Amino acid sequence: MAKDVDMKKLILDLDTGVDDALAISYVLGSPEIELIGITGTYGNVLLDQGVRNSLAITDLLGHPEIKVYKGLPHAGATDSFTVGKASAFIHGNNGIGEVDIPDSKREPESEPAVDFIIDAANTYGKDLIYVPTGPMTNIAAALRKAPEIANQLGGIVFMGGALTVQGNVNAWTEANISQDPEAADYLFRSGASTTMIGLDVTLQTLLTYEETQRWRDLGTAAGTFLADMTDYYIKAYETTAPHLGGCGLHDPLAAAVAVDPTLVTTLPINMQVDVEGPTRGRTIGDNERLNDPVKTTKVAVGVDVKRFLNEFMTRITALAQAAN
Ligand code: RIB
Ligand code: CA
Repeated sequence: MAKDVDMKKLILDLDTGVDDALAISYVLGSPEIELIGITGTYGNVLLDQGVRNSLAITDLLGHPEIKVYKGLPHAGATDSFTVGKASAFIHGNNGIGEVDIPDSKREPESEPAVDFIIDAANTYGKDLIYVPTGPMTNIAAALRKAPEIANQLGGIVFMGGALTVQGNVNAWTEANISQDPEAADYLFRSGASTTMIGLDVTLQTLLTYEETQRWRDLGTAAGTFLADMTDYYIKAYETTAPHLGGCGLHDPLAAAVAVDPTLVTTLPINMQVDVEGPTRGRTIGDNERLNDPVKTTKVAVGVDVKRFLNEFMTRITALAQAAN
């Protein structure tokens, strides 16, 4: 569809695994916002595999116009990254539930992701929302290179962390934060306006085989892909978190809140990440900025589960029907 020049713009920064793919689907199914690019990161998969997935998925969903930019391959404080066993178990070795979809004929853009983020912030300013759903490595590098973008951007809505519940890597650490705690801490202290969509809310938004069957019933390639990929993820959750009765819609909830912030209730608080000691990777309030009247972070602590799931199914089902 033709995009309105006044429409809000969005960048997804993805370690393209299953729920990242669902976040792409949610945004492409949202006519009120324009996806201006996907920046690639590492986490569920290596950087190159994630970029490959983003190109292939946007093609399959009928949106080959979406540009994909390569980000940094590992945390700034390290010189390599290896996919964890838990990530490979939950998302499959290829990140998309071992489902085989055609490679895109397109290549990632030549501009590095960090420069694209800075250019986009300069171009769109407050009309731009940046949504990282993997480690915060790319946005931290962009903020280090161009600190002024912290106040230019319309906001950063990220999936990561846990404030009121335990982590999913260990008792205090969530996966996206654990992969680059320094980057997330830098983001919290940068002055940028951030909304944290952590496990506090994403483990309340669950999908089951009942919903994926609706995609399968469409009989389209996109519907079959989404159903097969997500069924793999639901099956993994039956082993890793059987008490939930479904899979966590982590990344699509962050995307949905970027589109409609009223889906969650939030606690304004200045946050930090523990970067040293036994609690490395913990997201917690910053004692030294507790009494600062300016709060740069809102932590989602409540979510309208019913409304979100309805939006999720409506938008993605329509997209998967129209795609092919
Ligand atoms: O902890 C959940 C997060 O880790 C999600 O973003 C998932 O895709 C992985 O990156
Ligand atoms: Ca992710």
